[in-house]
Amino acid sequence: MLTKPEMNHASAAEAPAKPETNVSFADLGRVGEHSLVGRYMRRFWQPVAHSHDVAVGRSKSVRYFNREYVIYRGQSGAAYVVDPHCPHRATPMVAAWIEGDDLRCVYHGWKFASSGQCIEQPAERKSFCDKVKLRSYPTREYLGLIFAYLGEDQAPAPDFPTYSRFDGENINLQFESYTRPSNFFNNLENLGDLSHLAYLHADITGRWDEYRDGPVITAKENEWGVEFRGERPVSGNKIVQYVGMPNVAYVKGPPNDQAVAFREFIAWWMPIDDDHHIQFTVVIVRLGAEEFAGYMAREDERKRKLTMNDDATREMLADKMLSGELRFDEMDAEKVKTLWLTDDFAQKGIGNPANRPPEIMGTADIGVALCRKVWLRELKKLAKGEPLKEWKFQESYEARGDYLS
Ligand code: FES
Ligand SMILES: [Fe+2]
Repeated sequence: MLTKPEMNHASAAEAPAKPETNVSFADLGRVGEHSLVGRYMRRFWQPVAHSHDVAVGRSKSVRYFNREYVIYRGQSGAAYVVDPHCPHRATPMVAAWIEGDDLRCVYHGWKFASSGQCIEQPAERKSFCDKVKLRSYPTREYLGLIFAYLGEDQAPAPDFPTYSRFDGENINLQFESYTRPSNFFNNLENLGDLSHLAYLHADITGRWDEYRDGPVITAKENEWGVEFRGERPVSGNKIVQYVGMPNVAYVKGPPNDQAVAFREFIAWWMPIDDDHHIQFTVVIVRLGAEEFAGYMAREDERKRKLTMNDDATREMLADKMLSGELRFDEMDAEKVKTLWLTDDFAQKGIGNPANRPPEIMGTADIGVALCRKVWLRELKKLAKGEPLKEWKFQESYEARGDYLS
């Protein structure tokens, strides 16, 4: 008869060995299409452009997960996302003629339906169209963005997530997207890093007395991702914001207009390559059409003065900060959004997770630590082929941004 330890030993030996996974923080820095991050993020619908970026009859080349895609809008008004090279001899499809909702390659005229199926091969006496396909990705437009499902070929697209609190009556949308020269995860974990507000962004948030009324910072995993809270013990003011897995933010930022109490937005961080990402920001402006027009006129006026706020100029300024040429108190807040520039500096400067210097974390870093823990847990499951957690936004969530003063 076997003793208990022997039985355990015997059954362990018979059990099929689980594949070993060696997933670490460094993996969050690698975003290529076939990296763990790329494979995980491509299981979700992702934004690839603003709807207004692609006019009827026009195409746009975009780069995500360290590879290219082409977006075009057919004559019917529908937007499509396809692979960037013609399957014949690799000519860039961004230049293809848009005929109805089909694409005709400019090199030898092969024509592709919006499904990607080849439907004409003009120079072929005996065409073999049925054997040729340009890969085409499921596409949806929502909240002023073009979304695509970029998942593995043949994998069915998941249900498209909608957010009724952002697409209801009397809501107008404003777009405040930007490109940042840092890994996308630096921005994601920055959202959970509440204690940086009073220092990196002190010009906007003010510098509260950390010992008397500094926020008590907590974070917890929820049904959608991670919720971050900072509650100030004396004033009772608080900040509540969310990361939805894998790469969505729901935030109420500081107000910047007399008609809007907080700058409420939902945003997606899209990796371009290991060291660049786009934040697609959709600001939810809860004003009727007339008030919204007034708000946008004031916004346009404010933006006219921001002559140094385009992505390229901000990167140049961030580089000057990184070289010591430009100091924080020398930023011109009239010409550049200091909130963005200081985050550009920090998120580029701390470097990619794959080669970041060692960090020493404290209790106030709980939000950062939890983002990493949740992400790495899911990547490990993906690597092992185990079932992944399903994520869902809850209508009960309520971001808050009244942490100032
Ligand atoms: S390369 Fe596109 S038709 Fe030949
Ligand atoms: Fe920040």
